[in-house]
Amino acid sequence: MRILVTGGAGFIGSHLCERLVGEGHDVICLDNFFTGNKRNIEPLLDNHRFELIRHDIVEPILLEVDQIYNLACPASPIHYQYNPVKTVKTSVMGSINMLGLAKRVRARILQASTSEIYGDPKIHPQTEDYWGNVNPIGVRSCYDEGKRVAETLMMDYHRQNGVDVRIIRIFNTYGPRMAENDGRVVSNFVLQALKGEDITVYGKGKQTRSFCYVSDLVDGMIRMMNCPGFIGPVNLGNPAETTILEFAERIIALTGSKSKIVFKPLPADDPKQRQPNIDLAKTKLDWEPRVAVEDGLKQTIDYFASIINGNCCK
Ligand SMILES: NC(=O)c1ccc[n+]([C@@H]2O[C@H](COP(=O)([O-])OP(=O)(O)OC[C@H]3O[C@@H](n4cnc5c(N)ncnc54)[C@H](O)[C@@H]3O)[C@@H](O)[C@H]2O)c1
Repeated sequence: MRILVTGGAGFIGSHLCERLVGEGHDVICLDNFFTGNKRNIEPLLDNHRFELIRHDIVEPILLEVDQIYNLACPASPIHYQYNPVKTVKTSVMGSINMLGLAKRVRARILQASTSEIYGDPKIHPQTEDYWGNVNPIGVRSCYDEGKRVAETLMMDYHRQNGVDVRIIRIFNTYGPRMAENDGRVVSNFVLQALKGEDITVYGKGKQTRSFCYVSDLVDGMIRMMNCPGFIGPVNLGNPAETTILEFAERIIALTGSKSKIVFKPLPADDPKQRQPNIDLAKTKLDWEPRVAVEDGLKQTIDYFASIINGNCCK
């Protein structure tokens, strides 16, 4: 098949491109390099099955493809709050452009949605039928509400135009090629630990997160894209929950770091709990995460260590 991956030069997108090329597909990676990096896809640039297009999905594009994975969107608060209007445009106008393309060339399209559409959830763990508790006017709304509208658009193009859609709600994912400067928990903690700097925990560190290794996520995405008759939305994440404080301590132990943990005030709208219920993914996709947190963290620590030592990248 010929497969388009928007945001393909980003963290998750680059792993997805690599996997799809490995499976023998022709892959077109489309990216505006806002948060993506050529380094992420460098190993693929010589592969005859791989094509790179520098393009912004806010502008329409016509390509002949069979499947579209729509990942283009800055994903970390630092990046999506940098230009919030652009973030909304990317989710809303970008999704309209990709859905228009899917409609025109009759491609199946998968939208990378997010656990953030649940906001600060009032039920725990979150199931797909929960509608969420989202602040529409806060600093995170450009991302949360943008992604919610993108889901709405997927369903409306599906009902109105018969577009073949898939919606996945990704929970916190980590692994090699996460951006170093995005302020996300895993990259922050690992870099701080490797450099022997203080590890910054917000609030008392009692807020919980669950972390899914990127290869597990990519496996779930491909299963969902190719699952007949099930459009989702479906949660993809690791239900193994940990407090941020426990997580910081685990990273200190794995890196053998002398870093100390310091506490800072909680940012606005920071969710207190975040844990997926993945029963639907288990039933419909026969999917659940397989990579143990320790193993995934070791790969991630090796990656960031190679960046710090200047001999990146794999
Ligand atoms: N990483 C996570 O834990 C997580 C969790 C939930 C959802 N997601 C979603 O998964 C997708 C990928 O996330 P990621 O962690 O790989 O982030 P990332 O920032 O590494 O990747 C996003 C990519 O999209 C590109 N991009 C941004 N705006 C664009 C535009 N207007 N046109 C073209 N390209 C554009 C960026 O340059 C980047 O390469 C995003 O849609 C994100 O919302 C990620």
